[in-house]
Amino acid sequence: MATQKTYHIVTYGCQMNIHESEKLAGIAEKLGFIHTETVENADLVVFNTCCIRENAEHRAAGNIGALKQIKRKNKNMIIAVCGCLTQQKGTAEDFAKKFPFVDIFFGTHNVEEFETLLLNRLNGKKRQISLWEKEGNVNETLPKKRTSYPNAWVNVMYGCNNFCTYCIVPYVRGRERSRKMQDVVNEVRGLVLEGYKEITLLGQNVNSYGKDLGDDTNFASLIRALGEIKGDYWIRFMTSHPKDLSEDLVIAMKENPHVCHSLHLPVQAGSNAVLHAMNRKYTAEDYLNKIQMLRKHIPDCSVTSDLMVGFPGETEEDFVDTMKLVSSVRYLNAFTFVYSRRKGTVADKMDCQVPEETKKDRIMRLISLQNDITREISAEYQGKETVILCEDYDEKKQLYLGRNQYGLMVYFAWRQESIPVGKFLRVKITEVGGISLYGEVLEETQWLSHQ
Ligand code: 5AD
Ligand code: SF4
Repeated sequence: MATQKTYHIVTYGCQMNIHESEKLAGIAEKLGFIHTETVENADLVVFNTCCIRENAEHRAAGNIGALKQIKRKNKNMIIAVCGCLTQQKGTAEDFAKKFPFVDIFFGTHNVEEFETLLLNRLNGKKRQISLWEKEGNVNETLPKKRTSYPNAWVNVMYGCNNFCTYCIVPYVRGRERSRKMQDVVNEVRGLVLEGYKEITLLGQNVNSYGKDLGDDTNFASLIRALGEIKGDYWIRFMTSHPKDLSEDLVIAMKENPHVCHSLHLPVQAGSNAVLHAMNRKYTAEDYLNKIQMLRKHIPDCSVTSDLMVGFPGETEEDFVDTMKLVSSVRYLNAFTFVYSRRKGTVADKMDCQVPEETKKDRIMRLISLQNDITREISAEYQGKETVILCEDYDEKKQLYLGRNQYGLMVYFAWRQESIPVGKFLRVKITEVGGISLYGEVLEETQWLSHQ
């Protein structure tokens, strides 16, 4: 009997890509492949790439290059490269020359073609390269192999219309396309019935959800519709653009008890001159007003952010404005980035690029400030009780881990025979180590106990 063929997917970048890889895995499994943990012995290797910053691009190119030797030993290995990087103008052509051993190239607009391209190659056809200039319609038919239980990712929309001047995403993901509300609701209902405990709604800018549907659907009405789904689960969503965060959405969040009191609201910078040059369409004052509005309705809501240093023209004063804003909002956590030049974006053509040394100095100061704030917020938990959803086991620490609704990570020992992953647990925090919390399990509980 022939042994079953195996696949391995390497994913770079954001949650959107992680979920897209679940769709690629779904297609591979539909064609009879089974998952393998290692690249070396896989019959099919897929690189789902990211191009948001230069380092993501370099890592992907380096890892694809490294497969040349492996394929020499395993000649039948099929290698596919897809995602944001191949969708970028000219990159697939460059890669096709640079990596002649890659069998299949496709982009973000034609993920659904993966099945056909793979079948063609399996049937001995020549190397397959297919890229679409324009985004396709929303495809509801792709199979998915979910890999992150108890969390399940659910796209609510694709693409972005914002054109922040530093960002490549609108060029490689196309214009905003929303899924129909009923399709999202049905998917979430099905996932809750299957036993998923945390549903994360995904979109580049979820607050724009529905604008293209031609009726009065918006993200707030979606959050309200999801409130009809009974069950033992939490809802999270990302990413929200501050300019579109409405009071109606915050009220909808508050009214749907499944929604975690946590909001990812990237500010990027605290200087109005920089925000203007970034085309973010809000000022630092507008942003702080939104935070105030959020905390008026949901006082315990945690806020996280994306922060960038070294945008062209950023002065020391501009940077200090970012530091001030961070101190004033007190983010639970933030992703911090050094501005990276992206070809084809408006900011790449700006002539006042910040020197690398200055960028390095600023990112260190920013990380240090944010770490202090995260540590202070964590320290307040000492001796307190909180409800977490157990997500995983940490091999290194030999402890299970989970997050509370605010997004704080708690490690704990589990002495029972059952596996706690997917359980809501009330824990008492016994130790605060930097940004990690350690707790002791008091009891099994339910989602609503976070209220
Ligand atoms: N350089 C650095 N960071 C970037 N981001 C987007 N584009 C760039 C870039 N060119 C960051 C933004 C965004 C997050 C997903 O990635 O902070 O919110
Ligand atoms: Fe990029 Fe701005 Fe769109 Fe976010 S909102 S994906 S940063 S263009």
